[in-house]
Amino acid sequence: MSNEQTVQLAPDKMPNHIAIIMDGNGRWAKRRLLPRVAGHKAGMENVKTITKAASHLGVKVLTLYAFSTENWKRPADEVNYLMDLPVKFFNKFIPELMANNVKVNIMGYLTQLPAKTQQVCHDAVEQTKNNTGMILNFALNYGSRAEIITATQKLVEQAAAGELLPEDITEDVFAQQLMTSALGEYADPDLLIRTSGEERLSNFLLWQLAYSELVFTDCFWPDFDVNELRQAIWQYQQRDRRFGGLHK
Ligand code: FPP
Repeated sequence: MSNEQTVQLAPDKMPNHIAIIMDGNGRWAKRRLLPRVAGHKAGMENVKTITKAASHLGVKVLTLYAFSTENWKRPADEVNYLMDLPVKFFNKFIPELMANNVKVNIMGYLTQLPAKTQQVCHDAVEQTKNNTGMILNFALNYGSRAEIITATQKLVEQAAAGELLPEDITEDVFAQQLMTSALGEYADPDLLIRTSGEERLSNFLLWQLAYSELVFTDCFWPDFDVNELRQAIWQYQQRDRRFGGLHK
């Protein structure tokens, strides 16, 4: 699709929040007879490229699925490598994030991550907290069903303490307990992209994607370049979002 370089995007119809399931690192590496971790390294490099591109296009929030609660099932070597990627990424890329006014947010069950990974994530959030541009939101040790259970537990605790009645639980009250509540008005993605030809959600943002437009591309994540991003946004802009209502 990289021949679609010329797609014209409508600046007034930019998706505010783009979420990406960055899939296909392993297959990208295999095609090149490289170890899987080489695919993850190339994937990490591509995070930089797409972060800058999305920021330049005026996207408000870019959410990237970097590690799921199910990814612990992978071989220990690969898990260790994936846990080290945020360290490599932030150590190298913080100056560019600062230069691009990008603010880092991280969501997931962070206390289960290695101490070094937690520290670098904490530092990146801290260092970029006053930036006012795009939010780069990493989902790290994130799983949507777990997130929904955690939210439910918090509400039940409030109810048990007599602070909440069943009828108080509205969609807004529930969404406030989800990890995306930190993203405010942009909590729900407008556009979800999944690379590598797989067409499933894999426990990603199940609540938040209720009305998102879904775009799937065969491209492996390390090859997903600026033109691929523009192409996905172009597809999004052709869609008629009705949110259950009628045509405008
Ligand atoms: C899926 O590809 C990808 C992952 C599980 C890891 C994604 C992580 C990155 C792209 C780097 C993240 C960067 C930072 C800064 C945290 P896969 O391994 O499932 O590929 P396959 O389906 O081809 O095997």
